[in-house]
Amino acid sequence: MPAFKTVHLCHKSCIFAPTLLQLLWQFRTTRACLYWCFLDNREIIEKMDPLFRLATIHDLAQLSVLNKQLREDEKIDNKMTDEEITQRMEFFITGQVYKVHVLENQEKEIIGYCVLDITRNPYYLRQLFVKSIFRNNGYGKLLLEKVMAEYRLKEIDLEVIQWNESAIRFYEHVGFKRRYIGMRLTTV
Ligand SMILES: CC(C)(COP(=O)(O)OP(=O)(O)OC[C@H]1O[C@@H](n2cnc3c(N)ncnc32)[C@H](O)[C@@H]1OP(=O)(O)O)[C@@H](O)C(=O)NCCC(=O)NCCS
Repeated sequence: MPAFKTVHLCHKSCIFAPTLLQLLWQFRTTRACLYWCFLDNREIIEKMDPLFRLATIHDLAQLSVLNKQLREDEKIDNKMTDEEITQRMEFFITGQVYKVHVLENQEKEIIGYCVLDITRNPYYLRQLFVKSIFRNNGYGKLLLEKVMAEYRLKEIDLEVIQWNESAIRFYEHVGFKRRYIGMRLTTV
């Protein structure tokens, strides 16, 4: 009798296997729908493809704030006033040496940017920044990939401050190799 029961059950599960799979699939789809329905806007936008575009002078105010955040994140030791940061950013955006690219979400919020020196060979990435709440969503890598594709680059250089270990780990993770040692002599 127990042997019969086992065979019976196995037989049953074979018959119902496709139905079980369908149920599981339905559960997955329902869960995905619920997930999307109950997320707030910001989270939904984060899942969307942001727009990659050149910065214009209208982005100056936003980009100056982001540059200030970048400087805080990398704990840079050369002091600049807010005005100097804005003036330099204006020069990056409007001059002939640099191209500033941004990633913008559907709320027209710049979620990341980078500054590219197109006069150097190879092109030189001067700043790469993703707003802290948007990090670890692939946007830093996306910015880099978009820039490489936009200018059909096979190589790109950058410098990163020695103590910015998190950025160094990111750059190495996406494929950069250490190449130079930068040094500075400061006299008082
Ligand atoms: C560095 C920075 C731009 C990375 O942007 P991000 O959007 O968070 O990075 P991504 O989500 O695109 O990460 C891409 C990959 O790198 C990995 N990664 C990201 N940050 C990492 C870190 N600190 N250490 C190791 N790996 C890291 C991710 O896990 C991801 O891996 P995967 O592709 O295998 O999944 C962002 O952290 C930042 O703005 N930092 C502050 C500004 C700064 O210091 N910029 C450098 C100035 S030189």
